[in-house]
Amino acid sequence: MTTEKQLKELWFKFFKEHGFKQIDSSSIIPENDATVLFTTAGMHPLVPYLIGEKHPAGNRICDYQRCIRTTDIDNVGDNSHLTFFEMLGNWYLGACPKDEMIRLSCEFLTSEKYLGIPKNRLAVTVFEGDEVAPRDELSYKTWKECGIEEVFYKGKEDNWWALGGGVGPCGPDTEMFYDTGKPKCSKDCSPSCDCGKYIEIWNDVFMQYVVEKEGEKVRLLSKPNIDTGMGLERTVMILNGEKSIYDFGILHKVIEFIDSKAKVKYAENMRPYRIIADHLRSSMFILGDEKGVVPSNVGQGYVLRRFIRRAVNCARTISLDVKYFMDIIDIYTAHHGEDYPDIKKNNQFVKDELSKEVEKFSKAIEEGHKEFEKVISGIERHKEFAKASGQEVASELSGKACFRLYDTFGFPFELTKELAAERGYTVDEEGFNKAFAEHQEKSRTASAGTFKGGLADTSNESARLHTATHLLMAGLRKMFGPQVMQKGSNITPERLRLDFNVDHKLTEEEIKKLEEFVNDAISQAVPVTFEELPIEEAKKSGAVGVFESKYGEKVKVYTIGSISKEICGGPHAKNTADLHHFKILKEESSSAGIRRIKAILD
Ligand code: ALA
Repeated sequence: MTTEKQLKELWFKFFKEHGFKQIDSSSIIPENDATVLFTTAGMHPLVPYLIGEKHPAGNRICDYQRCIRTTDIDNVGDNSHLTFFEMLGNWYLGACPKDEMIRLSCEFLTSEKYLGIPKNRLAVTVFEGDEVAPRDELSYKTWKECGIEEVFYKGKEDNWWALGGGVGPCGPDTEMFYDTGKPKCSKDCSPSCDCGKYIEIWNDVFMQYVVEKEGEKVRLLSKPNIDTGMGLERTVMILNGEKSIYDFGILHKVIEFIDSKAKVKYAENMRPYRIIADHLRSSMFILGDEKGVVPSNVGQGYVLRRFIRRAVNCARTISLDVKYFMDIIDIYTAHHGEDYPDIKKNNQFVKDELSKEVEKFSKAIEEGHKEFEKVISGIERHKEFAKASGQEVASELSGKACFRLYDTFGFPFELTKELAAERGYTVDEEGFNKAFAEHQEKSRTASAGTFKGGLADTSNESARLHTATHLLMAGLRKMFGPQVMQKGSNITPERLRLDFNVDHKLTEEEIKKLEEFVNDAISQAVPVTFEELPIEEAKKSGAVGVFESKYGEKVKVYTIGSISKEICGGPHAKNTADLHHFKILKEESSSAGIRRIKAILD
C-alpha cells in the first residue's frame, strides 16, 4: 500500500537527488490574476518565472500544489475525477532538455526504487506537429529508447497545454498514461480515449511559447522551460491497483465515515457520497485559505456556494444529517493540516462559515423543492392537456422558472439543471441567461440613477452591511484621526469589505474596540436618515466622502445620529438596530499603506 504521503516523499527524494530544489506551495486563490478563479495547476503561481523572471531558488525546482478545477465538476462522482486535487510538480526554468526530462520521468515511473510501474503498463502521447510547432520526434524517439512500446502521436487537442484562458506560457506536451490492461474498446482506442482503459497520471509540458494577450498569436519564448505535473490521487490509485480514487487514503476514510451515518448506504448510491467527499474538501480549502473567501453570488464565492449547496442536496439524497459536515471538515483538517497550515489555523472559521451557508440553504431548499415540484407538475398538466388536442409540449423548464428558483430560492442554475435531468427534463439555458442579464441590468440602473455611488445589489442584506460600513468608517476615524478615508469598498449580501489608509496592522485590541464601537451604535438603535443637498452645502455640513460631483449638483448625505455623516448613494438600513450584531472576520494588508477589513453581521 502506497499512501499519498509516501508518494510525496518519493517525489522529493527523487528530484532532490537530481538537483531540484523544493519550494513552498501557494494559495488556492491566484495572485493578481483575473483570468482564472483558482489555482488550477502547479505552474500557475510560477507564471512570472516561466516568462523570464529569475526564480530565487534557481532554475530547477519542485513542489506540491493544491489545485481546484471546476471544468470536471460534472464528472465528479465517477472513478477518477475531482474538483480538488494535489499536483506534484517540477520545473526546468530557462531550459528545455526534453530528452533528459523524459528519461527522468521514465526512471521515476518505472524504477523499482521509485514507483516500479512495469514498462508495458505505460502508454504515452507526443505532439504530432502543426503550423506553430514541429512534430516532436525527439520525444517520440526518447520514449522508445526508454523501452516504452505504446507511443502515440496526437494533435493539438490532446497534446498542447495552455492555461484555461489561453493566455500565458504554453507549448506541446508529452502525456503519460497508465494502461489498466482492459481490452481496447475499439480498434482506434488509444490514450486519449475515455473508455477507462488508459488513465492519465503525468504530463511534461515543453513551454517554449507564449500568448501575451487575448487574441494574440502564439510566439516563441526567448527562454523555454519545462513544466511537469503529476496527479497525486490518481497515481496513488494506480499504485495500489484500485479502481477509484475513493477507494484509498483520505477520501476513503471520509466515505467510510459518511457510510456510518447516512441511511442510504454507499453500495446503493455512490455518486452523492463521492460528491459530498469531494465538494466539502474543496470548500474547506477555499474557506480556509490564507486569502479566505466566503460564499457569495460572484467569482470564487459563487463556486464555493455551488459546492456547498450541491453537497447539501447530495446529503438529502442519502439521508445524511448535514451536522456531520463539521466532522468531515475535521477529518480533512487532521489529514491536510500539516502540509497546509492555514487549513488548521482557520478550522473554526471554516466550520462557522460552512454551517451558516448550510443552514441558510437548507431553509431555502425546502421551499425551493416545493416550488420545483410545482413547476414540474404544471408542465405535466400542460402536457396532458395539449396531448388531448394532439399537440406536444417539450419536457423543458423555462428560463424564467429557472431564474425564479435561483433568485427567490437560492438554487444555483446548475442544481436546477441536475434536478431537472433526474426527472427527464431539460432546461432553457439561454432563457435563464437572458432573465439573469435583465435582472442585472435592472439593479444596475436602479442604483446608478439618482443613487450615485450606491450599491449594485439593493438587497436588505447589502443595505445593512452598507450601513455597517459607515459605522466602521466612523469608528476608524475616531480611533486614528480624520485623515482616514475609505479607499475601496465591496459589499455582497454576505459580507462587507472595506479598504482604508492606516499605516499599520491593527492590533487585536484595536479590532475589538472597533467591533465594540459599531455594536454600541447598533445597540443605541439610531435612525439612519438622508437628505439631498447641493455639493457645497454637503461639504459645509462636514459630510465625508468623495466630492467628485460638479458645482451645483445635488448629492445624498446619509446621517447616522451624531456618529456618521457621509456623502453616499445608499441604500441603507433604516435604523442601526436592524444590523443586530457586527463582527470583524479579518484584517489584512490590501496594498502599501492600505489595510482591509472583512466583516459580517450575524
Ligand atoms: N501544467 C501542466 C498540467 O497541469 C503540467 O498538466
